[in-house]
Amino acid sequence: MNTTTPVDTKAWADLAHHAESWRNVHLRELMAGDPSRSAQFATHAPGLRYDYSRQRLGGMTVRLLARLAEQRGFREWRQALFSGQAVNDTEDRAAWHTELRSGNSKEVLQTLDRMRRLVPAIRKTYKRVVNLGTGGSDLGPRLLADALSDGRLDVRFAANIDPKDLERALEGAQPETTLFIVVSKTFTTQETMANAMAAKAWGGKHFYAVTANTKEAQGFGALEVLPMWDWVGGRFSVWSAVGLAAACAMGFERFEEFLAGGREIDAHFLDAEIEENVPALMALIGVWNTNFLGASTHVVLPYSNAVRLLPMYLQQLEMESNGKRTDREGREVGYATCPVVWGLEGTVSQHSFHQLLHQGTQVVPADFIDFGLSRELTANCLAQADALALGTHDTALPPHRRYPGNRPSSVLFFDGVNPRNLGRLIALYEHKVFTQGVVWNINSFDQWGVELGKQMAKDILKGAR
Ligand code: F6P
Repeated sequence: MNTTTPVDTKAWADLAHHAESWRNVHLRELMAGDPSRSAQFATHAPGLRYDYSRQRLGGMTVRLLARLAEQRGFREWRQALFSGQAVNDTEDRAAWHTELRSGNSKEVLQTLDRMRRLVPAIRKTYKRVVNLGTGGSDLGPRLLADALSDGRLDVRFAANIDPKDLERALEGAQPETTLFIVVSKTFTTQETMANAMAAKAWGGKHFYAVTANTKEAQGFGALEVLPMWDWVGGRFSVWSAVGLAAACAMGFERFEEFLAGGREIDAHFLDAEIEENVPALMALIGVWNTNFLGASTHVVLPYSNAVRLLPMYLQQLEMESNGKRTDREGREVGYATCPVVWGLEGTVSQHSFHQLLHQGTQVVPADFIDFGLSRELTANCLAQADALALGTHDTALPPHRRYPGNRPSSVLFFDGVNPRNLGRLIALYEHKVFTQGVVWNINSFDQWGVELGKQMAKDILKGAR
């Protein structure tokens, strides 16, 4: 496997040279001078269109970026990912989230069968389900439940060690009709264990667990223990029993639709040539903006209230995966890796921080996500993307009313918010993250950076600091 440094590839040097020729090119001229741009710089994956015509790039840029992926060993790494090899080398583990939706694994199918039986029973028996977990054991199911609940069951989430979180999740609930799902791969996470104990103290009687630590969960008194596997990372685990609370909120058949959406993107990611491969392009364009055009943050703007939690979900997915400063050979990298990822639902974001996007001193590349939910949402989404790209050049206007433009963005178009589209969307970003890890020569699947603070908090609590 290729673990050399990307800056030593010919493509990296060529891109650095090529970027020079983009210094003085403005998207306004580019878009006016080439009306076919929106067709040339757009591609499809199942159920979606990816329009990157408002990025500051041309055909040569895309070819060089594809060459960079090739020279980084993208094909070989992708094969390793999909075949369950230990791509997480610091923990000697696979990162086999694709296997959760492939339909090939017996143990995965058995767990899905259990969920198929449990979900309707839970929906019939309980009035409230409370998911107790944090990080990957919270953000994925929370996003899905918030986006896709059919309203038949009240599903809540508590993640914070601040008791207020659980207090809110239990408002109006009764112990007899409340099911707690304790989700923790390790079953040792301080926040989750504190919330699980507090739920017991509140009088909670019904507990399920989703964990890789079956023994601890049984000791805790869980009625059902569903598995997590060490070959799946927490932030990639929503496709497994970690998604149980979400499946309870939306119904199991719709959870299967979600898996099917992810599976479609897996097939696309495996088969499509790099220049037509949506997740690979998302990754490579991110590399272009970060490493060659100097962006340090990236904003994600879903134009849907239902999908409002996506930015929070992606913050863990992208930054816990690729917020790294040493490469696979243990060397300090001499180039930027993951940008700061942030965002908010459109149109709410427009009345908050779009001022900075349009006129601030930093250029922030954006992902706009349109679901075609209303003419108003789509119009606003496209207007923002165009305004960022084109700006104004009316010198009759006072300086504070001018817009520099030339601010890059892409637009992902989906046809509606539904389980399949959410599966497609999340799988796209998972593969984007993986591809960037390959380019940057980092292990996207560990998270050692969170350990020091955890330990120090423990020491403070013990009085040892
Ligand atoms: O502290 C980070 C982290 O380990 C995440 O990677 C993970 O998603 C989260 O904590 C929760 O971990 P667990 O599922 O073991 O409780």
